[in-house]
Amino acid sequence: MRVRQRAVIEVSGRELDDVLEEAGVGTPVYVYDADLAVKRAREYLEAFSWFPGDVHVCYAMKANFNPHLVEHILSETRAADVVSLWEMKIAVEAGAKELVVNGNAKSDDELRAAILNSWIINVDSMEELRRVERIARREGERARVALRVNPEIDPDTHPHIATAVEESKFGVNLRDAERVCRAMIESEHVEFLGVHYHIGSQITELEPFIEALRSVRRFLEETGLVEELRYLNVGGGLGVPYRPDEEVPRPKDLAEALRDDLRDLHSESPGFDLYLEPGRSIVGEAGVLVTRVRQIKEEGGRKWIFVDAGMNALIRPALYDAYHEVVVHGGDYLETEKASIAGPLCEMGDVLAEDREVPVNVSEGDLVVFLTAGAYCESMASSYNCQPIPGAVVVRDGELAGIREVQSYDAFRNLWE
Ligand SMILES: Cc1ncc(COP(=O)(O)O)c(C=O)c1O
Repeated sequence: MRVRQRAVIEVSGRELDDVLEEAGVGTPVYVYDADLAVKRAREYLEAFSWFPGDVHVCYAMKANFNPHLVEHILSETRAADVVSLWEMKIAVEAGAKELVVNGNAKSDDELRAAILNSWIINVDSMEELRRVERIARREGERARVALRVNPEIDPDTHPHIATAVEESKFGVNLRDAERVCRAMIESEHVEFLGVHYHIGSQITELEPFIEALRSVRRFLEETGLVEELRYLNVGGGLGVPYRPDEEVPRPKDLAEALRDDLRDLHSESPGFDLYLEPGRSIVGEAGVLVTRVRQIKEEGGRKWIFVDAGMNALIRPALYDAYHEVVVHGGDYLETEKASIAGPLCEMGDVLAEDREVPVNVSEGDLVVFLTAGAYCESMASSYNCQPIPGAVVVRDGELAGIREVQSYDAFRNLWE
């Protein structure tokens, strides 16, 4: 008798191949469990419910802007963090009632849209403040602004996603920040609300979050700006477990870690609301990328499994040395061997997973699934090598809630018509 260990992926309580069959889409395809994303969004709202002021959880659209998915998240949070005009449009169409606008080089159109809609602008520099003032004056409006400060914290994450180190392109360091805040307070064209910071992404320890809040708190107290504070935005950045045995802090842990400082700050300045901008920790675990084995090759003592999507669909391994767990859907994991999984692109960086245990009998046509692909995967997809953008299926309460087909040649070619 053989004991079989069959790896079955479930999405919103349904088997993956069943979902794909009903959706009628081919591969590669991102599949999302909207229930899980909604659950994570709720966890944030619940975790910070002790905060004495209002709490605004602004879902960071950059993590995943798939409108079919975003509408479920925004039905909970009602607020989004956006970095472009199109993110603004998608967020508003998906039900956002409130936006915070980020970016180190916002366009005039983005600033104008923010000003006309009274969305809060996290201003990145004195130079940007001057542009905001000019546009607000021209429009006859007062822009609602906060300053993005850089608390100069170096979290233990990939350098590309550590956004508040000393040499960062984002924000104004705390030595120079008072001058910009005072200019905001004195300006007749803007309304100063407070400060924003975001120290990075995929942060799996609480210490950097505590350190950042403490140094911003010290800054606010020492400068007396605490008295003007109506808005404190602590950004996003909480990590997700990419490896099966990885433990990461959850929203309730973050809330607990920040509780004393936030409470004290609020008692010094009772008028401010708390803003957060989580992205990855809401959608990261809620998505998978489903690919199909195209070919298997043995070369130089190494086994290669080539699938039908590469770094065009999953850039994180090449860009951040990131790890995604890989599962052969329906695969028999009793007998396994090591193999590397790569895409079809003409690029040596197009290796998605190195030296993983896969079933010995994996074969052409099998589904190879990359887990924890809900954040910064679909939103970073490209057409490199003229590869199609993968399809996307959203499942909510076990029902298909949104389908995008794998990009067709006509849809791709029409970009230049
Ligand atoms: C300003 C800002 N806010 C929020 C986020 C979302 O971060 P995360 O997805 O790690 O929560 C980012 C992403 O790096 C960001 O740059």
